[in-house]
Amino acid sequence: MKNYNIAILSGDGIGPEIMKEAIKVLNVVESLSKVRFTLTQADFGANAYFKCGDSFPQATKRICAAADAILKGPVGLGYEETQKIPVDQQPERGAILPLRTFLNTYANIRPVYLPKTLNNFSPLKAEIIKDGIDIVMVRELVGGLYFGNKEVGLTKSGKRYVKETLEYDEDQIKQILLVAFNIAMKRKKVLHNIHKSNVLKSSVLWNEVLAEVAIEFPEVEVKHQLVDSAATFLCLNPTMFDVMVMENMFGDILSDQAGGILGSLGLMPSACLSDDIAYYEPSHGSAPDIAGKNIANPYSMIGSVAMMLEYSFGMIEESKKIWQAMENVFVQGYSTAELSHSADELTILTTSDFGDKVVEILKNL
Ligand code: NAD
Ligand code: IPM
Ligand code: MN
Repeated sequence: MKNYNIAILSGDGIGPEIMKEAIKVLNVVESLSKVRFTLTQADFGANAYFKCGDSFPQATKRICAAADAILKGPVGLGYEETQKIPVDQQPERGAILPLRTFLNTYANIRPVYLPKTLNNFSPLKAEIIKDGIDIVMVRELVGGLYFGNKEVGLTKSGKRYVKETLEYDEDQIKQILLVAFNIAMKRKKVLHNIHKSNVLKSSVLWNEVLAEVAIEFPEVEVKHQLVDSAATFLCLNPTMFDVMVMENMFGDILSDQAGGILGSLGLMPSACLSDDIAYYEPSHGSAPDIAGKNIANPYSMIGSVAMMLEYSFGMIEESKKIWQAMENVFVQGYSTAELSHSADELTILTTSDFGDKVVEILKNL
């Protein structure tokens, strides 16, 4: 029987709450299929720092390196709590970014998906999204401003000074573009290139490389869109986009905006892919404002399980069933707390009740 080793990094804030539901779903998939999942929990994030002084401990690195895939909950604390941790150990700088470089997960796939049955969740007018929303954002994840040189100091005249550089080489750009073109080939064969070449030299190089890569994909129509106007079109007409590709920082911002047009960040799972391993996490953070209340939406974490089954284990049917089960929960008239604004007659589910409903439906699909 096939066995997959999965590292479980539950994270901070709502992380453990939504991970619990994701594991429930994984257990059902196991019971209904011929695979076995061996789950290994590992400390990661602020909780790890407070426990052992390291937000990405060596033991966790070893568990990740030995895993077939990694399921990660969000990490991080609210602003004040974060200040209790030295800057370089804060979970974003001390855990997430090092995890991304450690695994070289250069391709971040963020589906922006709302079936038309659920378009009432979106704050956009029904006529704009009558067929739902279905975009794939492809975000470069291990380069750009996040990983460039950082200098903090004083100018000659004693003024405080900071310099952060946005760096990419052509190979880094090519590898993410190849991922995006290949996804476009499997979908509508239209790729929106999101850039800022009217100002940034990095975008000029990005677009040059894109023109070269595009020759290998003559069937794909490339559409260029400046990042600032792309933000507007995401609100006014999101269905004009199918696959969007962009550098790291642009992708961070536009993908959270995308969560907004769906109606909640809780609807945003993601996959972080390298050439040989992948990790899966919600696009959102640890939601300190709702942590510990059993009200977070676990859709993003359960959706990350669905993406893991598809991308890492080739379990396409099981993955589809998870998406279907989650959609069915909502279609049956339930919602999670943050989506309850969308209609009066919805029954609000807690985090754990949502997981239970998904499991119940999944067993009968
Ligand atoms: P956030 O994404 O945690 O929260 C923004 C808003 O969305 C909040 O109102 C929150 O309650 C809501 N929200 C997010 N996920 C939800 C869910 N599943 N269900 C219901 N509502 C949900 O952003 P923030 O508050 O700016 O950041 C909090 C912390 O998370 C910070 O420390 C940040 O660095 C960290 N963070 C971590 C990751 C990650 O681990 N990949 C990603 C983003 C932010
Ligand atoms: C995300 C997060 C991270 C990012 C932070 C927490 C480092 O916002 O995954 O989108 O900026 O990439
Ligand atoms: Mn983000």
